[in-house]
Amino acid sequence: MIPGPTNVHLKALEAMQRPLTDHRGPKFEELYAELLENLKYFFQTRKWDVIPFTASGTGAVECIISNAINPGDKVLVPLYGNFTNRIKEIVEIYYGKVVTIKIPEREAVTASQIEEVLKNEKVKMIFVVFNETSTGVKVRDLREIAKIAHDHGALIAVDAVSGLGGDDLPVEDWDIDLCASASQKCLAAPPGICMVSVSDRAWEVINSMKARSYYFDLKLYKRFFVERRQTPFTPAIPIFYAVNEALKVLREEGIENRIRRHKVCAEAFYAAMEAIGLSCYAKKEFRSNTTIAVEVPRSLKDSDIRRIMREKYGVHIAGGMADLRGKIIRIGSMGMVNRRIVMRTINALECTLKELGWNLRVGSGVEAALEVFSKYSGVQLL
Ligand SMILES: Cc1ncc(COP(=O)(O)O)c(C=O)c1O
Repeated sequence: MIPGPTNVHLKALEAMQRPLTDHRGPKFEELYAELLENLKYFFQTRKWDVIPFTASGTGAVECIISNAINPGDKVLVPLYGNFTNRIKEIVEIYYGKVVTIKIPEREAVTASQIEEVLKNEKVKMIFVVFNETSTGVKVRDLREIAKIAHDHGALIAVDAVSGLGGDDLPVEDWDIDLCASASQKCLAAPPGICMVSVSDRAWEVINSMKARSYYFDLKLYKRFFVERRQTPFTPAIPIFYAVNEALKVLREEGIENRIRRHKVCAEAFYAAMEAIGLSCYAKKEFRSNTTIAVEVPRSLKDSDIRRIMREKYGVHIAGGMADLRGKIIRIGSMGMVNRRIVMRTINALECTLKELGWNLRVGSGVEAALEVFSKYSGVQLL
């Protein structure tokens, strides 16, 4: 129950045991073509390319910057957590000029904040983190932000590593030019593959540029696929099998149900936290669908909570990152998340808090979650 890597579907795990095929042969070519089609479903696009790389999520973020940003290009990067900070650092490594907005704590960027900055700044790209995993906030008005970007002649790029598949983000419908995601979060596959979707508008920019990364050269990957149905470099073939299997599982469930399932499970977690008497870190209107960030009561230590949950109840949750280390705990509600493991996690947390002397009635959180689940009988919860 950490915010990735998440529990992996058995079919995806089993797929990794298949005999290894070579990446220059027909079996791989077939797998790769199928994978690319299935990835389009994950990103909810029919027309646009989605290109996978053998790398973790950061690779996809770096890929976007290295393919679309020249030295001196301005990129607007609103700052509201660790992963937004990383984007700023990557843009700077590629000699881009970062324009920032510091967003108040416990919030994510809004369309009006972006609009305000663009009154005085011309930027080539706006790069936002859809779901900021370090603070448990999500951007609510991404579609509007994309429109504002385009009205100002800028590209919109999104880090959706911990949000895609767990919250609404149809990239083509919302006109998101470049979107980064990864295998190990809401897709419920093992870590090792990241992906980038590319709009026609983004291709125009990329095609007019010299690639600035050897490994993450989008044009090269596109050419290799069109000409040979292969990748330029040796891919992590067992993970390609696993991700393709996880995508088939996603197709069977349906992306709409998967997103609704994440919403219901998140709502159950939030209701339980309130019933237990814990405060969520994110302001209510910015709360994430996939990462439940909860403040640690002053009288308790996050390391004790996590240790007891892990050792006595077999439930692993995460602590805070950077400035929030020791101040919050984070529960990943992603991927295969379902009623059974939500209930188990809440119960483990209740029992742990009781043991640590927190004043609560064990069962109050479970009851609150049960009430939420009973409201959504139409959603398949696995
Ligand atoms: C929003 C976000 N972006 C980027 C990353 C980095 O992904 P990775 O660790 O797979 O490189 C993460 C990882 O948790 C993330 O949550």
